[in-house]
Amino acid sequence: IHNVIFESSQEASLMVAREIANLIQRKNELNEPCVLGLATGSSPIKVYEELVRMHKEERLSFANVVTFNLDEYYPMDENDIQSYYHFMHEHLFHHVDIHPENINIPNGQVSAEELQQYCIDYEMKIKSYGGLDFQLLGIGRTGHIGFNEPGSHVNSGTRSITLDHLTRIDAASSFLGIDNVPRKAITMGIGTVRNAKRIVLLGWGISKAGIIKKTIEGEVSSQVPATYLQEHHNTTFVLDTEASSELT
Ligand code: F6R
Repeated sequence: IHNVIFESSQEASLMVAREIANLIQRKNELNEPCVLGLATGSSPIKVYEELVRMHKEERLSFANVVTFNLDEYYPMDENDIQSYYHFMHEHLFHHVDIHPENINIPNGQVSAEELQQYCIDYEMKIKSYGGLDFQLLGIGRTGHIGFNEPGSHVNSGTRSITLDHLTRIDAASSFLGIDNVPRKAITMGIGTVRNAKRIVLLGWGISKAGIIKKTIEGEVSSQVPATYLQEHHNTTFVLDTEASSELT
């Protein structure tokens, strides 16, 4: 892996958005779909803002883009303002020309009986496109990517998972209290993410400095699932000065 450190997350986000836009355009010239794996949370917001700007001001088209979101809380109604469905539409999909049928976000409303098959089908759908061309990631303080909490298997696929207590604490403010944070989620697996041809992980701010150090300099372990990215041949960690401050 390889790190790039920027003075500000703003500047870093512009570079990442530019890479994604270039990929979309290259695939478009080849008449191929551009298959993007997308993250929610605070880390990618400025990347989406810049992609929207490029759509509006530079005519970047998303007509050939197919997206797969990493995760969704479970259970979760898509109309709920805390849903990742809502987040993605508010920050990106409502503002660009993506075809709605090309948007894939794990459905937090599938029944308990259908859940397992639903996850297998999500995984198969990604494979049917030949896998992800690009995966955008944030990182949680537990070392999760997607919602692959400590203990996740290196070859795991899309599945339901129980959220760590620390992850629920970090989500508590947006749910107005920890008691309202769902206990479970649907997430793409470590294996799903590692099959992406290109991975970019965003890390901003001092609260991420400790986990970024473990992820990049620590030994590869299921206790810090993001360390599995060390074995991926085309991953870049894009960091700001604060998030990189504990690196040696
Ligand atoms: C979100 C996701 C999570 C977040 C992580 C960091 O789709 O998969 O892994 O990327 O929890 O969240 P923020 O960016 O809010 O610090």
